Amino acid sequence: MHILLTGGTGLIGRHLCQLWLSQGHRLTVWSREPGQVPKRCGSGVRGIARLEELEPDDPLDAVVNLAGAPIADRPWTAARRQLLWASRVTLTEQLLSWLERREQRPGLLISGSAVGWYGDGGERELTEASQPVKEDFASQLCIAWEETAQRAQTLGMRVVLVRTGLVLASDGGFLSRLRLPFKLGLGGPIGNGRQWMPWVHIEDQIGLIDFLLQHNQASGPYNACAPEPVRNREFARRLGRALHRPALLPLPALVLKAGLGELSTLLLGGQRARPVRLLAEGFTFRFNDLQSALDDLSDRL
Ligand SMILES: NC(=O)c1ccc[n+]([C@@H]2O[C@H](COP(=O)([O-])OP(=O)(O)OC[C@H]3O[C@@H](n4cnc5c(N)ncnc54)[C@H](OP(=O)(O)O)[C@@H]3O)[C@@H](O)[C@H]2O)c1
Repeated sequence: MHILLTGGTGLIGRHLCQLWLSQGHRLTVWSREPGQVPKRCGSGVRGIARLEELEPDDPLDAVVNLAGAPIADRPWTAARRQLLWASRVTLTEQLLSWLERREQRPGLLISGSAVGWYGDGGERELTEASQPVKEDFASQLCIAWEETAQRAQTLGMRVVLVRTGLVLASDGGFLSRLRLPFKLGLGGPIGNGRQWMPWVHIEDQIGLIDFLLQHNQASGPYNACAPEPVRNREFARRLGRALHRPALLPLPALVLKAGLGELSTLLLGGQRARPVRLLAEGFTFRFNDLQSALDDLSDRL
């Protein structure tokens, strides 16, 4: 297959490229730094700065759309919100209008999203049939991102939306940020620690995207998180155990709200999300429980 990726140089994209290269697929990555693509994604992966660099008669089988500026890195000022929006919604609009103009169209668009689509779900169990519970900026962003991607259906493409939980990996993402405070013994629950955290091991995240690529019947939204979400307090306890450190120091909600503004809703709220559709359609998770996922990664952290 010839697969075009956006965000292919990111955490999920790099792992996907590794898998798909090993399976013999041909990969092109649309990137702001196309020269870095072979180094980051694997030699043989082509980097392009503009979609128009893809020849109109070079057949494309699938597009995987993962680009987006990091959402939890800094407070959501007006400028930051604009960047978060442009790097997902506007970029996806550009992708769609290029696909519209192209005569040869791929059959499939797999587009990124997040469990944050539901907003803070409290104690409610969230399946793909659920509606957004409490809208905040992150859920509005995901809703608009998904709606834009869905328009590819009108071009005759199969559209899959991957509502990803916190991806656990040893080479980037959420765990890399928690590593230092936890190793220093400064880790612990956030706020009251009762919020639900849907998580997914990077190996399963890659496996499920590959499953959705191959599974011709798959379309619409999929919760990409392990079958057993945990509360934040439990997550901190288990990460502490995996790193052989205490994880008792709570991070008070007031401090977070004062320091991060609305971004704190991402950390103080949560989603009790379940991957109902993936399980029903036959995907098997390798890491079902958090401890096994953390133990697998901890010696590489
Ligand atoms: N990792 C998680 O835990 C998680 C959870 C839920 C949802 N997601 C979503 O899934 C997608 C992929 O996740 P990831 O962890 O692989 O992301 P990542 O490592 O942060 O990489 C995202 C990629 O997006 C591109 N990008 C960054 N800033 C951009 C900007 N201002 N404009 C255009 N492109 C920009 C970059 O590609 P270039 O530098 O090559 O342009 C980057 O490699 C993201 O959109 C993320 O929001 C991730």
